[in-house]
Amino acid sequence: MTAPSTTTSTDDADRPADLAFGVDVGGSGIKGGIVDLATGDLVGERFKVLTPQPATPDAVADGVAEVVAHFEWTGPVGITLPGVVTDGVMRTAANIDKAWIGTDVYDLFSGHLGGRTVSVLNDADAAGMAEDAYGAGKGVDGVVMLLTFGTGIGSAILNNGNLVPNTELGHLQVGKKEAEHQASSRVREEKGWTYEKWTEKVSEVLATYEALFWPKLFIAGGGISRKADKWIPLLTNKTPVVPATLLNTAGIVGAAMAVSQGLKT
Ligand code: BGC
Repeated sequence: MTAPSTTTSTDDADRPADLAFGVDVGGSGIKGGIVDLATGDLVGERFKVLTPQPATPDAVADGVAEVVAHFEWTGPVGITLPGVVTDGVMRTAANIDKAWIGTDVYDLFSGHLGGRTVSVLNDADAAGMAEDAYGAGKGVDGVVMLLTFGTGIGSAILNNGNLVPNTELGHLQVGKKEAEHQASSRVREEKGWTYEKWTEKVSEVLATYEALFWPKLFIAGGGISRKADKWIPLLTNKTPVVPATLLNTAGIVGAAMAVSQGLKT
């Protein structure tokens, strides 16, 4: 009888790093970088180009290709977008050019990237995946909800690391208005509200979410999470709220995770 063949494992130190590429498409910038999936860290600096205006699909895809070319990256690319992506098609465009609605985003990005493999997902979903795996949600069992407070409110729900994509809770009606029309960071800036006034609205929104989803933890992302010490202590909802820790890399890291997992929403 022949002995079964065995595989020899190499030392961790000899193994090439597990790298993937992510691009985060936002309202003002298209940011990308190479991600070390063993740690969730970027390898070197991220690179950013300004989001073209109008931010039409072709113009944005050109920007994504420019970011990828900057790194001379030739492999698969993960890409985030600020809308719902199902069956490879962008379905909504609350805060981006309406021309995105109905766009086949796999054809679009693959076409601008020499036919290579891409993975395209919602921006908050990508940030949630990254924070859950490497950031503020690491090691937390059960349901974790990430919310990004920016131009809109993005949401991601993960249960033990498994994403429920496209939850879009920023559009849930809370009181008289959609959540993002009263508690996004843009609304605070436009109305000139103090953190006290704004957190009253955020608390109402979080209280609504926790009554429906009962998460173990809320993670607050978006630019305003850099000032977390000024407003998180003012919140009055029940579930603990912690700031995101990956901050401006979460979308890039989540996009890289998505493409490495072959995720398609
Ligand atoms: C969009 C979401 C997006 C969020 C943050 C919302 O207006 O509907 O898809 O995740 O903004 O960009």
